[in-house]
Amino acid sequence: MAEKKQKYYYLVIGNWKMNPTTLREAKGIYRDVKKNAGRWSGIRVVTAPPATYLAPLADYKSPANFELGGQNCFFEESGSHTGEISYAMLKDLGCRWVILGHSERRAQGEDSATVARKAGAVLSAGLRPVICVGEEKRDAEGEYLAELENQILASVKGVKEADLPRVVIAYEPVWAIGRKDNRALSGESVLEMNIFIKRSLSRKYSRKKAMSVEVLYGGSVTADNTREIVESGQVNGLLVGRQSLEPVAFAQILDLVKQVKDS
Ligand code: PGA
Repeated sequence: MAEKKQKYYYLVIGNWKMNPTTLREAKGIYRDVKKNAGRWSGIRVVTAPPATYLAPLADYKSPANFELGGQNCFFEESGSHTGEISYAMLKDLGCRWVILGHSERRAQGEDSATVARKAGAVLSAGLRPVICVGEEKRDAEGEYLAELENQILASVKGVKEADLPRVVIAYEPVWAIGRKDNRALSGESVLEMNIFIKRSLSRKYSRKKAMSVEVLYGGSVTADNTREIVESGQVNGLLVGRQSLEPVAFAQILDLVKQVKDS
């Protein structure tokens, strides 16, 4: 699938997780965000709601930069896999993106080998995987960096070099996700980790391809830290959890990303 030149795009994904509890509320949030979509040209705004809401939300007419994504999928197209949803089903609903390996799934036992298998299936269907990686905690000796590198490389195992431009890596330090104090990484630390991810990928892929991979930051993103993270962290966008369920706050985040893009 032809992709527009990525450098002209920022990507902001709203990961609704297992919220809200009713379709009515889901529609309300979606409509409230969508009504301002015209303000965010040049930004791909992806909503990743619970799978049960995808079909009704896909029925809304949306501008081209307003897309839907899955929060997970299975690596087989169809078959005897009770409770699973396949990449083909997500594609059929018009999803272009699939979040994979979120830390909340990894905490339930999903390993990097499974994430890699899913990423391969998603890519083969012409969809774009958003592979989440991130350390659980940090240690003074920097051991977490070696573990993170292993996680990154294991999660893209089997992804061919030619497919790398369609892969998005979402860096989400687990300790920064869902924090009550909303403390995210500093822009400087995000930049360090952005470079670290690309360097890790360059162990497997050509430097050129690895350095141009799209990297997002996620973990307690709010309107207060958006500008610093995107500008100083030099990321291609954000993976937003709680604030994506608050249309006003999410719109503020998107406005700030747009300002950085246009600056
Ligand atoms: P948060 O979640 O923005 O609520 O910290 C981010 C995520 O888990 O993707």
